[in-house]
Amino acid sequence: MKVSLVKPNIGKEEEENVLAVLRSGMLAQGPWVKRFEGEFSKYIGVAHTVAVSNGTAALDLALRALGVGPGDEVIVPDFTFIATANAVLFQGAKPVFADIDPRTYNISVKDTEAKVTKKTKAIIAVHLFGHPADIAGLQKLCANHNLHLIEDCAQAHGAEWNGKRVGSFGIGAFSFYPTKNMTTSEGGAVTTQDAEFAKKVDLLRNHGQADKYLHTVLGYNLRMTDICGAIGVAQLAKLDGMNANRIRNAGILNKGLSGVRGLVTPYKAENARHVYHQYVVRVTPEFKLARDGLKDGLNGKGVGCAVHYPKPITSQPFYSSQGYKAGGLNSNEAAEQVLSLPVHPGLAREELDYVIECVKEAGET
Ligand SMILES: Cc1ncc(COP(=O)(O)O)c(C=O)c1O
Repeated sequence: MKVSLVKPNIGKEEEENVLAVLRSGMLAQGPWVKRFEGEFSKYIGVAHTVAVSNGTAALDLALRALGVGPGDEVIVPDFTFIATANAVLFQGAKPVFADIDPRTYNISVKDTEAKVTKKTKAIIAVHLFGHPADIAGLQKLCANHNLHLIEDCAQAHGAEWNGKRVGSFGIGAFSFYPTKNMTTSEGGAVTTQDAEFAKKVDLLRNHGQADKYLHTVLGYNLRMTDICGAIGVAQLAKLDGMNANRIRNAGILNKGLSGVRGLVTPYKAENARHVYHQYVVRVTPEFKLARDGLKDGLNGKGVGCAVHYPKPITSQPFYSSQGYKAGGLNSNEAAEQVLSLPVHPGLAREELDYVIECVKEAGET
């Protein structure tokens, strides 16, 4: 049996919407993007969404619109996808790396607090793997030190904290890359309650153009196309269903893998809705094989699995060559032990059972 790690769920609705765009003759940012922005705002529970070309652009423009630049520091987790930290460097600011909570893999509020300086302007909290970061702790910290909270929601569309969707607490930055919980092919969005801030991001994504050929600020071209917007409208309508399947699949995996010696299944905080962008197990030294041994064994049996992420950002050659200080030991240990197993919404029960059987077999002592 072959079980894929990821599989975008594209169907008739997406095909029909894209055909409608192609036949309309309006291919660049247009009415579908506007519609997608409105529907996404409603879904997340914010007043404004500004759709952009990808998730990295969303982070870049959020920081830029906040006025983050040279001389500023932004605290980011050391254990995340590289784009989170790169966005800070793109603004000429300095990323400062915090350690993670070893249970959720999200930024540690305690360590973030220890790393706040007079230069700190913002925190980027990543809701990694679909589990919300500690919103209450981060909000308190930001209020105490007068910092902006950016939520990197690239992996957490529809995740909730105390019944409220992520992306509505601070400034949200979403990615709609094909492997995410929902996709627009490539794509991204900034979400906010603040009309003035949304206007700034809107200007920055489109050449700083306030009116036809009237350019009031230095802007980029980081627009979303209507083809992407049309895919997004169809995907958003399916998001709750796709997330429900992920949650169901995670429950099956949790049950099947509970009690396997040395294997830690994903943690979920009581007040969190975890949307399992990835189903990440921790392969501890008590497991029969080392993490990479398990990964190779599963791949050999046709079970797609991968390591998100094999190095903390500060251990990536580019960052280590620049001498950035590591976030801390929990980030290093996570990078050594994590393994993502298939959880995507298209999985059949037999496929999940096969994944469980293969992991158990590998762990038998
Ligand atoms: C946590 C995180 N932040 C940012 C990004 C960047 O998004 P994109 O690839 O759409 O630029 C990604 C995904 O790729 C991500 O996983």
